[in-house]
Amino acid sequence: MLRRRLPNTDIDLSVVGFGCWAIGKTYWGDDVEDGASKAAIRAALDVGINWFDTAPLYGEGHADRLLVDALGPDKHTVHIATKVGVRVDGPDGHACSDLRPEWVRADTEASLLRLGVETIDLLQVHWPCDRGSLFDDTLDTLETLRTAGKLRHYGLCNYDATSVTHARTAEGMVCLQTPYSLLRREFEGSLRSACDGLGVVVYEPLCRGLLTGKFGAQPSFPDTDLRAWDERFQGPRYRHARALVMDLQRVSARVELPTAALSIGWAVAQPGVTAAIVGAKRPEQVLENAKASSVLGRTKLLSVIDKVAAIHGGW
Ligand SMILES: NC(=O)c1ccc[n+]([C@@H]2O[C@H](COP(=O)([O-])OP(=O)(O)OC[C@H]3O[C@@H](n4cnc5c(N)ncnc54)[C@H](OP(=O)(O)O)[C@@H]3O)[C@@H](O)[C@H]2O)c1
Repeated sequence: MLRRRLPNTDIDLSVVGFGCWAIGKTYWGDDVEDGASKAAIRAALDVGINWFDTAPLYGEGHADRLLVDALGPDKHTVHIATKVGVRVDGPDGHACSDLRPEWVRADTEASLLRLGVETIDLLQVHWPCDRGSLFDDTLDTLETLRTAGKLRHYGLCNYDATSVTHARTAEGMVCLQTPYSLLRREFEGSLRSACDGLGVVVYEPLCRGLLTGKFGAQPSFPDTDLRAWDERFQGPRYRHARALVMDLQRVSARVELPTAALSIGWAVAQPGVTAAIVGAKRPEQVLENAKASSVLGRTKLLSVIDKVAAIHGGW
């Protein structure tokens, strides 16, 4: 498994990171089993994955607790990236952003306790604030937490080019987490330029499993799975995606690498990308996804994948 330096830090990240959303057991259907999730985490360690992306929101702490349990003493040899700034409100469990300094501090302290660490390697603002907190107040709070030793570095998720340009002048701000895949290409505009020299970790490189090629003509999901109401899995958008995936599967058969590995490998090979975060529920998925590392450096293969993407275009 190749590693790359997260710019402006001393952290080397495996190009494939492990995303902990699904193992939190909410929004991802009825087939998430703690035993299989733990085995997936152990498989990740075995193949050289050295970082895990989690969030307080993922099962409201369940993902964090399971991660720590599965890692055991290895917790101290890997990097844990988590997030801050989302609060679950009211009995209906509605998640809303809250970037007031007092919540950023409380949320960070709660993560430190749950993860059982003294310092968080990378703390990322989960979403831009939709409740009127001043961005500079949030950044100042993160900087204060950093100088107090509660976190080593911080980053942003889901922010635009203007916000990244503004925030990156702060010393502790080292990366952006943003969606990117063969189907979802908005990173390639002004956002990529704004991130020049910063770390960029991309999420949803498999487009929630779609780019593994495992779904048929009309996938169906239980109501407990967020893909049941994701329009990318329906109608013309899905048919468009499936045409791309079917071509990718032909390439995958020729080079004897899983379609998932080609999709992830392509994302990690793109300019400006440091690493990809990939979710998995079972060890077999991790083993396939880890093969993405072997796609890097295969210029001919990458140009064939580029051609497939160009024929179909993103959404
Ligand atoms: N900052 C943010 O706002 C944000 C938002 C989204 C995600 N993220 C992070 O990014 C991570 C990755 O994103 P994601 O989990 O949404 O999407 P993803 O990585 O594109 O897809 C993950 C899902 O695809 C399926 N899968 C994975 N590998 C597979 C394989 N080899 N073969 C078949 N199916 C496979 C699994 O679900 P099934 O088996 O059920 O199909 C898995 O849960 C998250 O876990 C989270 O850490 C962050």
